[in-house]
Amino acid sequence: MNAPVLVDIRDRIATLTLNRPDKLNALNYETVDLLLRTLDELESDPGVRVLIVTGAGDRAFSAGADIREFSESVRQGTAAAVRDFVRRGQRMTARMESYRKPIIAAVNGYAFGGGCEITEAVPLAIASDRALFAKPEIRLGMPPTFGGTQRLSRLSGRKRSLHLLLTGERFSAERALEVGLVNAVVPHDDLLPAARDLATCIASQSPLAVTAILTAVTRGLNLAIDEGLQVESEQFASLVPSRDLREGIDAWIERREPAFPGC
Ligand code: COA
Repeated sequence: MNAPVLVDIRDRIATLTLNRPDKLNALNYETVDLLLRTLDELESDPGVRVLIVTGAGDRAFSAGADIREFSESVRQGTAAAVRDFVRRGQRMTARMESYRKPIIAAVNGYAFGGGCEITEAVPLAIASDRALFAKPEIRLGMPPTFGGTQRLSRLSGRKRSLHLLLTGERFSAERALEVGLVNAVVPHDDLLPAARDLATCIASQSPLAVTAILTAVTRGLNLAIDEGLQVESEQFASLVPSRDLREGIDAWIERREPAFPGC
């Protein structure tokens, strides 16, 4: 129970809990490394179709990178700071962004700095009405480094993200919904049930089609439209020989529910 990331697998849904509640689930190197290893394991686990990420305790999703720890890397100089702090954090958010299974952030409290960047990187997010977001790095005299200067602008537009990045001000779950950072805001006690409902719905779909859609949308967003259409076409082409596509079409023709076997 002392591991910095807890994993609970039920009904094809893996719930990952960031577990340093006395530090508001700050992302120290050990947490990031364990998160990356856990993602590796779950990606190839056929018993898991959807992941939920949330925070332990009743205060925080995550208050961001562990400032005390990365300040030591900064003290060691540029090479150590970039290698140990920046690259590690960017690896984590990039992995979540391009993960082959959907990850839903269930934002249960503070999502500051790296906690906000995880929310930006994952494909889906639901926030408790008690969640509070911020891009506070500016107050430490630095830009965000886990993708926070890149993904929020793509989600919400340049001016909205620059306002949040340059002021560091806190913003509510409702504001996060308005700027496109989360899909929904729900009463605090409904957060995990709402995340599980969404996960259950997606877990019943064809896992191959889910991965194809995640890949096409996420890759396509950073491409010109004609290249994005090529990715879309390739994703479809890769499914043509699959049992999932045959089953989905046959089930529609035979007027029955499809049963998708999985990867
Ligand atoms: N890194 C390291 N430790 C952190 C942390 C972080 N990002 N955020 C919180 N903690 C630790 C605190 O040091 C404290 O530990 P301690 O009791 O051993 O000193 C504990 O978590 C509780 O935090 P505390 O600051 O006492 O709670 P609070 O209610 O007064 O304030 C916040 C909550 C979120 C406003 C405040 O913790 C904060 O500003 N955190 C940093 C946010 C940030 O700048 N993140 C971006 C980092 S790049």
